[in-house]
Amino acid sequence: MTSSAGEDGRVSADREVVIRWGIEDDDAALLRIERTSWSPESGFPSYLEGLGDRFFERTGPESHLIAECAGVVVGYLRLQDKYQFREGNGVLAVNGLAVAPEARGRGVAAALLAAAAYEGRRRDARKISLNVHSTNLVARRLYERHGYVVEGTLADEFVIDGRPIAALVMAKTL
Ligand SMILES: CC(C)(COP(=O)(O)OP(=O)(O)OC[C@H]1O[C@@H](n2cnc3c(N)ncnc32)[C@H](O)[C@@H]1OP(=O)(O)O)[C@@H](O)C(=O)NCCC(=O)NCCS
Repeated sequence: MTSSAGEDGRVSADREVVIRWGIEDDDAALLRIERTSWSPESGFPSYLEGLGDRFFERTGPESHLIAECAGVVVGYLRLQDKYQFREGNGVLAVNGLAVAPEARGRGVAAALLAAAAYEGRRRDARKISLNVHSTNLVARRLYERHGYVVEGTLADEFVIDGRPIAALVMAKTL
């Protein structure tokens, strides 16, 4: 456990949502969320087609903030250093955020973003950066409400289902 969370691993909690760091045992629940969460508006169909049987295959549990409601895993946020060299120190990246469809609209993502900002400040990071599809209006609004601003637009960055889309680079100053 790398945060200043309590001994039970909790980073933050309110009445409904508990945020904690990931553990290996979260793999199956997160795989289920991953398979049901993404659409062509928010993610990459090729990624879903290639998804194996292990969520933590490429990135371990220690890089994931986990949201639980009543003991059930309902979402995750993958938080990593954006760069692997010292000149980029202090910039974190949200490299994945998803909430189970049945748990949406209840502030789960809001709690995950708040925990990421808390963790960023704890690490003395300057900002948190992320990329979002221009078509992902729900996520764009969510990020804006949480203090993320558009730093740049990568026009025609991807072609998804035959349609060119832009990727927006958004970041929050800590
Ligand atoms: C984007 C996402 C993480 C939001 O999760 P969430 O837990 O529903 O988010 P919150 O409840 O904190 O906030 C959702 C906000 O969008 C609003 N909203 C609008 N349309 C919505 C919809 N179809 N479903 C859920 N919320 C919706 C909610 O009312 C809420 O606004 P509020 O804070 O003003 O009440 C979730 O929709 C998701 O997993 N989407 C697919 C993956 C994705 O797009 N990830 C981001 C990639 S960059």
